[in-house]
Amino acid sequence: MFVGIDLGTSAVKAVLVNGSQDVVGACSRALTISSPRDGWNEQDPGDWWTATLSALDALAAAHPREMADVRGIGLSGQQHGAVLLGDAGQVLRPCILWNDVRAAAESREFERRFPDSRQVCGNVAMPGFTAPKLLWVAHHEPEIFAATRHVLLPKAWLRYRLCGEMIEDMSDASGTLWLDVGRRCWSDAALEATGLARDAMPALVEGTARAGRVHPALARRWGMKDAPILAGGAGDNAAGAVGLGAVGAGSAFVSLGTSGVVWVTTDRFRPHPQGGIHAFCHAVPDMWHQMGVTLSAASSLAWWARTTGVAEADLLAELPERVTRPSPVIFLPYLSGERTPHNDGDIRGVFAGLSSGTTRADMTQAVLEGVAFSFRDVVDVLADAHSPLAQADVIGGGSRSRLWISIIATVTGVSLHRLAHGEQGGAFGAARLARLAVTGESVGSVCLPPQRVETVHPDPALSGAYDVPLARYRALYGGVRDAMRAGARS
Ligand code: XUL
Repeated sequence: MFVGIDLGTSAVKAVLVNGSQDVVGACSRALTISSPRDGWNEQDPGDWWTATLSALDALAAAHPREMADVRGIGLSGQQHGAVLLGDAGQVLRPCILWNDVRAAAESREFERRFPDSRQVCGNVAMPGFTAPKLLWVAHHEPEIFAATRHVLLPKAWLRYRLCGEMIEDMSDASGTLWLDVGRRCWSDAALEATGLARDAMPALVEGTARAGRVHPALARRWGMKDAPILAGGAGDNAAGAVGLGAVGAGSAFVSLGTSGVVWVTTDRFRPHPQGGIHAFCHAVPDMWHQMGVTLSAASSLAWWARTTGVAEADLLAELPERVTRPSPVIFLPYLSGERTPHNDGDIRGVFAGLSSGTTRADMTQAVLEGVAFSFRDVVDVLADAHSPLAQADVIGGGSRSRLWISIIATVTGVSLHRLAHGEQGGAFGAARLARLAVTGESVGSVCLPPQRVETVHPDPALSGAYDVPLARYRALYGGVRDAMRAGARS
């Protein structure tokens, strides 16, 4: 029996998986984000811990026999966040999250200090990544920076609470800008550019390796016969890939979660920093991946639901089952800036093309389409990066909407496979990593493809229909950026 824990942005999800890879129990506890200023997004690690304890307590209460037999726990986590720890391992400030864009100036500064960073770290420095966040703390909260002894990513901090050890896996470490991604080791030059050294970093392991053992007191609390082994685990996207069996070169998926991700597995380190593609290690040995990230994907619909005061399901119910024409309204989903392809932390969203006849349904459709346009931008840059895409699995909470999947397929030209359990993503992959760490089985024998329920192809009836809206969407980006800069200067 294995447990996978996904420390996401909107929730901590835990799944219990048996030897036949069936999910026999699942529990989720919601998390909230605090946004003290525009573009800032933070969470208190203490809340992650409370949510994790509560989710595991609930699993133990509901499945005592299965929990007794848990041999391994795998961790999946939201990437890039900076958890700063002091001398005694205490948390010094709230975690600055992956979708926080305050460190734009520090991203440029990082590249000035470490000119080879794009080739070594595989990415343009972006405010979402961890290193620029530390430079921001050094400039704006120097006393906290001075007190910082260790920097951990969210799930490494969770491991620290679970077992007392500071260990990180390669896939998540790739998102710090401190990893030499090709060599799979910390880069001293990158650390120096941030005023840090290796002793501030956790030990590195592959996602499939053993990485600590759960404290006996916690194992007793959850009724486990033996304290389970922890696996290295993965960043949430790499964990999602493991869950989908996307471990071979060329396998691809689209994740329609809080963020939107288009992922392609590669058998070597393939940096393509122009256009904002991330080139990271995979969570399995000797493999890498490329991905592009839309910062506000399912969170755009969540925002629209909050703003209108109407539940997401009710908003979607106002739309037809099948789209017959693009919305007359265009939505830019840049609620927290954008990564791929723009790397622009200052850009914000917009609705354009409103008229006196515009309905709420038009605007909801525009939100779905705006996210799809953003995916299209990512798919186009991936093609430039030698990873053209014809088909992909689709996971994440947003994948419950067949309509949204169909719009994305039509706008991107990529056929999308709907899955039986598409929303389990990272937690299930983490449980697989736990199994690999405990049993030493081969990656290929455990990371099997998922059960696909349907393939949604681009809608031929809408072929060409999105050309004009897409051109408008792209033109609007430049217009909004210039308008906002003009506003900032006046
Ligand atoms: C990936 C990224 C997001 C988070 C979401 O680079 O920032 O997908 O991992 O949890």
